[in-house]
Amino acid sequence: MKLKNIAILFFLFLIIISCKKQNNKQVPVRGLITEKAMVVSARAEASKIGKQILAQGGNAFDAMMATDLALAVAYPYAGNLGGGGFMVYRLNNGEIGALDYREKAPLAATKNMYLDSLGNIIPELSTRGAMAVGVPGTVAGVFEAQKKFGILPIESIIKPVINLAKKGIVVTKKQEARFTEKREDFLKTNKDTILFAKHWKAKDTIVQNNLANTLSAIMKNGPDEFYKGTSAKILAKFIQENGGIITEKDLASYKANWRTPITFNYDDLKIISMSPPSSGGIAMAQILKSVESFNLSKLGHNSTEFIQVLAEAERRAYADRSFYLGDPDFIKIPQSKLISDAYLKDRMKNFSFEKATPSSTVSHGNVDIIESDETTHYSIIDQFGNAISVTTTLNSGYGSKLYCEELGFFLNNEMDDFSSKPGVPNVYGLIGAEANAILPEKRMLSSMTPTIVEKNGKLLMSVGTPGGSTIITSVLQTILNVHEFNMTMQEAVEAARFHHQWLPDEIRMEPNRFNKKTIKSLEKKGYIINEERSPVIGIVDGILVWPDGTLEGGADSRGDDAADGF
Ligand code: DON
Repeated sequence: MKLKNIAILFFLFLIIISCKKQNNKQVPVRGLITEKAMVVSARAEASKIGKQILAQGGNAFDAMMATDLALAVAYPYAGNLGGGGFMVYRLNNGEIGALDYREKAPLAATKNMYLDSLGNIIPELSTRGAMAVGVPGTVAGVFEAQKKFGILPIESIIKPVINLAKKGIVVTKKQEARFTEKREDFLKTNKDTILFAKHWKAKDTIVQNNLANTLSAIMKNGPDEFYKGTSAKILAKFIQENGGIITEKDLASYKANWRTPITFNYDDLKIISMSPPSSGGIAMAQILKSVESFNLSKLGHNSTEFIQVLAEAERRAYADRSFYLGDPDFIKIPQSKLISDAYLKDRMKNFSFEKATPSSTVSHGNVDIIESDETTHYSIIDQFGNAISVTTTLNSGYGSKLYCEELGFFLNNEMDDFSSKPGVPNVYGLIGAEANAILPEKRMLSSMTPTIVEKNGKLLMSVGTPGGSTIITSVLQTILNVHEFNMTMQEAVEAARFHHQWLPDEIRMEPNRFNKKTIKSLEKKGYIINEERSPVIGIVDGILVWPDGTLEGGADSRGDDAADGF
């Protein structure tokens, strides 16, 4: 009798467990669903302002200007006037393009500017303070995009952002932690104490009147205010007084550049992503095309074999990245060869499921060079069917930590994305070579990967993320999550992520999110697993177009990200 009861209980237990499993499968977690238009960004305030611009008849490019500038107010960690970024677009008629508003090296920059007399890297010179600052591109970028495609008057776009700066932003818990973490750096870097060095707590309101004044001047005088006007004079003087080398001439000569995006096919998808000076599009094309012939959905999401094949493709692509990629206006990039089927097949030919290929045996591939590179991402799809994907950054959190109190914004430390010394890793552990050496007016190589995906000729997704070197692999895992594993946009951005970048020779994994057995079997095959380095990998935001035309926002809960739309 007793034994029978136990057997019945055990049986019931099995039924409950299996129902739970089925439920998990049957009820997909969806993000915000809207009919017509959507903005997903790192802060609810910025998504809301972007949505309002769309609701009053503006298009994605008007909303881009509003969202980008609102992030500078609400998310000073990465949103910026003192940084730069990239935008990839797809118009409702299928036309595609890309805008590069990446920072550039000042005219007085030199190849060895971060080395001492013995040729060693001077600690922090390229990461903190005025010498780390590249000539900012954001103001030029948002004006250039709006001028070409926008439809609303500038005033109606920037006014709500100015109001936000005046009314103040409410500090979130995550923001409080970041302010606390960086306070020492703020005090060490700036001559005087700064607004953000106060002991801000969650729910406090931060009013930014100086930033509001700068935005008002930009609204009135256009981008020239920032690059040639009073603000330019104040900014150049401020940077020089703090030991930097950016001049008024550097600011006056800054231009955002239209670029041709990288496009490639993966199964029935067409992927449109950022071209150099970002490494994102090329590296993602290399990785996805290298794994296309494997049946990834059959291997299983985050299974040993899935992680292996992706990590091996990543290892090889990042080795190429470090050798071949840089600013295309300064170096020749063998772009089509690097993403050709024959080349990639050859790169993967020594891959085996039996054991890891050590990075010490992997170098960049052989390519004939004479053939004819803390951040934030937002995605917007407007009610007209235009889509944009924008990633913008100050590089590290709060950039160089240098804050121009008079103008009300932080300055980037993007100069660290150059290769200061061949073979010596930057803050993301990325190794660079001659292709990414410093030269006056050159743009530093980036990993930012704003991406748009089409399926059967129709818009499917706009996606991107921050995360330094892990950006590329986070974006491609999100695309695979939707395409190979049928996840919703929200599930795809939330799923656990891993990353390999050739050097260091390790697979970084988000801690405690991967099966222990999987980790053990990877280790057995010779992979080094690092669950410590990155508590989170990427903060992905995206919008997915469902077959019925509705839009689903995926706002990553790793940040304070939020979707808004109608
Ligand atoms: O352009 C790049 O690749 C880097 N400056 C991006 C920095 C970044 O994503 C930091 N975020 N966590």
